[in-house]
Amino acid sequence: MPDRLMSTYARQPLEIVRGLGSRVWDADGRSYLDFLGGIAVNGVGHCHPTVVEAIRAQAGELLHCSNLYHSSTGSRLAGELVARGVGERVFLCNSGAEANEGAFKLVRKHFHRLGQTRRVRLVAMQGSFHGRTLATLAATDRPDFRAGFGPMPEGFTFVPFDDVQALAEVLDETVAAVVIEPIQGEGGIRVPPPDFLSQVRRLCNGTGCLLVADEVQTGMGRTGSFLASHDADVVTLAKGLGGGLPIGALGARGPAAEALQPGDHGSTFGGNPLCCAAALATLKVLSEEGLLQNATDMGKLLMDELRRAIPSAQVRGRGLMVGIELPFEGGPVVTLARQSGLLLNVTARKVVRLLPPLNVSEEEVLTAARIVGEVVEAARAGAATPVASPSG
Ligand SMILES: Cc1ncc(COP(=O)(O)O)c(C=O)c1O
Repeated sequence: MPDRLMSTYARQPLEIVRGLGSRVWDADGRSYLDFLGGIAVNGVGHCHPTVVEAIRAQAGELLHCSNLYHSSTGSRLAGELVARGVGERVFLCNSGAEANEGAFKLVRKHFHRLGQTRRVRLVAMQGSFHGRTLATLAATDRPDFRAGFGPMPEGFTFVPFDDVQALAEVLDETVAAVVIEPIQGEGGIRVPPPDFLSQVRRLCNGTGCLLVADEVQTGMGRTGSFLASHDADVVTLAKGLGGGLPIGALGARGPAAEALQPGDHGSTFGGNPLCCAAALATLKVLSEEGLLQNATDMGKLLMDELRRAIPSAQVRGRGLMVGIELPFEGGPVVTLARQSGLLLNVTARKVVRLLPPLNVSEEEVLTAARIVGEVVEAARAGAATPVASPSG
């Protein structure tokens, strides 16, 4: 039967039927080390027993009740996120794009309430990715993704990612917020200089606009700390938040936390009890199993091993958000790695991206680094022969 799904994705020839920890299995029973992790979603690994149990328990109690009523799972989750630095008030939704869309609405409404009605512009970074809805696409520096979808929402400006001077030049009394990924994910694991975010914060303070940190990919401990940003007025999360279930969040602090009032914004499924229960369990696993520390330690090991295995490539990242910039198109590396039992992907055409679970083991890291080293060499040589598959 022909596949009736819209062909929005160029899917790889692999059907995944089962997952556990850092591994997934295909329909023929072959196993793969999953170093893409559902694109940073499976932060606590596939089917973590604590998350699965929380989902089972919640599924037997209440699946959905609508935001017209109180739900203790949603309120508890908001409290846990605030305790981890995600603002003072939280809005729950279903995805990264929806969290960012809500953030953009929030910053505009904030200034509207203050009577500063000219402050509507959002300044985003070159190389950014914030989602596929119209407004998040307008903030995404990918003209190819926008082609054919115009007209785009107005009021979005781009500046070079790590150029403080260029940012200073566009910040005026019409700017509502600067929107930034602390490390650009889709843009090619681009890590700004260490003091960049502090400088952006100072510029925002100086001109009175807000700072929005899109932590959809960097958040939930991915870089070794719960958030990769500090001091943002608005923070967005999704991906790893639900341990595999779809949930997003936006947190705001200070007066901006009160910007959205009854009727201003909404989402039927936002804060759904099942997804919130999964997110609460995921946060518990992150804390109780010391996964932030493991992300730091395993990230260092992974980057050290990759640098040793591929001295000619630039390896960069933080924690378990790792990129390898190749001197050639990375497509063949993805294919060869898959044939060798390792899942990864390529962003920005030449950057191999590794986003393994935060509870990945030393042995798994060493295996993955060895395979990456071998397949990068094979791809460089133009050879299409798969290297030996890992056991397990
Ligand atoms: C930084 C960032 N923001 C937003 C998004 C969009 O998230 P979603 O696909 O859940 O809408 C992504 C997805 O890759 C992302 O990496």
